Amino acid sequence: MEAAQHSEAPEGSSERDLQGVYRYYELAKRAEWQVRDLPWGDLPPIPEYKGSPQKLARRRDLWRSVVTQQLQADELAVEMAAQLFSIAPDHEAKLYYTTMVQDESRHTEAWLKLIHEAGGMAERDPYLDQLARMTLDADTLEEKVFLMQVFYERLIIPRFRMIARSSRGTVLEDLCNRLTIDDGIHHGAGMAYERVLLEGAGKAMNGKLVAAANRLLPLFAQHALWRPKAREFIGALMRETDIRMLKDDLENGVRLAKSLGLDVSEVQLPY
Ligand SMILES: [Fe+2]
Ligand SMILES: [Fe+2]
Repeated sequence: MEAAQHSEAPEGSSERDLQGVYRYYELAKRAEWQVRDLPWGDLPPIPEYKGSPQKLARRRDLWRSVVTQQLQADELAVEMAAQLFSIAPDHEAKLYYTTMVQDESRHTEAWLKLIHEAGGMAERDPYLDQLARMTLDADTLEEKVFLMQVFYERLIIPRFRMIARSSRGTVLEDLCNRLTIDDGIHHGAGMAYERVLLEGAGKAMNGKLVAAANRLLPLFAQHALWRPKAREFIGALMRETDIRMLKDDLENGVRLAKSLGLDVSEVQLPY
């Protein structure tokens, strides 16, 4: 992969105000928790049901599938956070990214333990792997921070809330509540850093970001509407909800881009 270009201030420059990003470094250190803090052994890993063996098996497969997707997402998040750490030119941002690499690693550790307790891995989402590849291969730091922290880290939060609501009294619920907080920090830090990166960025960078969005959004829609076999039986019921959530995510992305001062008139939404 080519080294990410960075068009703005040179390494070590004190021209830019990175106090906002640095504050998230301190916040992230205070918010850190450990996998052993989860209620392992006190609560069931995933929801438990009563009913026929077939019903129980189907339910367990459904939850294994939910956990597998989140494990996959956090494994990819470790790679992205590590890349952001290695290419960010500002030392305040580098310090912040050490915490994000730690967070995403800890999330992966927790999901690995949970999937083991829930009966093992299920099917991976092929579109999620492709989305991560596109983000890792993006040319500039500005594109990567936008995709990873401004867009993905924000849209995952309502999903964790949804999973937590339907898995009360489980380790899964506890984990989702923690991840809502961590990913709120990841998103906030990304917004703060992207603002600094885009300061004085011209039309060319705006065009690059819009082009990246237009390449990525059709794939993102496929990911959002993809259903693994274990969840096909609820797929038809959920299709409308999936499309509504996808539209919300897209609108949110556009709103966030505008709030960063970007011109989004050329963005083509797939839905
Ligand atoms: Fe994570
Ligand atoms: Fe995250």
